Amino acid sequence: MSDDDHEELFALHSDPLVMRYWDSPRWRTLDQAYAFVEASEQIAREDTGVRVAAERTSDGAFVGWCSLRRWNPQYASAALGYCFTRDAWGQGYATEAAGELLRWAFDRLDLRRVQAEVDTRNAASARVLEKLGFVREGTLREDCVVDGDVSDTWVFGLLRREWHAHPAVRPS
Ligand SMILES: CC(C)(COP(=O)(O)OP(=O)(O)OC[C@H]1O[C@@H](n2cnc3c(N)ncnc32)[C@H](O)[C@@H]1OP(=O)(O)O)[C@@H](O)C(=O)NCCC(=O)NCCS
Repeated sequence: MSDDDHEELFALHSDPLVMRYWDSPRWRTLDQAYAFVEASEQIAREDTGVRVAAERTSDGAFVGWCSLRRWNPQYASAALGYCFTRDAWGQGYATEAAGELLRWAFDRLDLRRVQAEVDTRNAASARVLEKLGFVREGTLREDCVVDGDVSDTWVFGLLRREWHAHPAVRPS
């Protein structure tokens, strides 16, 4: 994340379509983008993970972000997250970006488990995780309340041995 990303981050997180299954309300002010970039820098400073902007190779356009957070060295585990602009959907970007973070997680950080949580209505996100080899492990019932809307959450998990056993799902 950099200081150039504030406007694009705000556009992303204030878009009702992008945020319809998010676990917090859409953003209302640009200050929230500044706080998000600051939080991303803090994650890196504290060594609890990483949150990076994703740019399209052809023109450098911001298309979203991807993160590995809640890194617990003792458990060798972390949590995956991502969010992409609606214009960029359906082109494999989330799968590619998340795949690169997973490669880093399993090969460099030596993680044993990566977890992801998804609103049960969010079929596109569940599909991204399935393509990457994640296993749907269970449902957290009535886990979230956003703007008065109660929703359930699926928990997905991917183990290092599963990642290495299924090279076909790994982006190149
Ligand atoms: C979920 C999200 C990250 C997917 O990004 P993306 O770049 O479009 O993902 P990809 O192109 O890599 O893969 C999307 C897959 O979902 C499928 N898909 C899309 N909409 C779908 C739907 N309504 N039902 C089922 N599958 C769907 C696509 O066909 C594709 O699968 P395929 O390659 O087998 O055809 C993106 O929609 C997004 O940012 N949404 C808003 C934020 C969000 O929900 N983040 C995740 C929170 S857990």
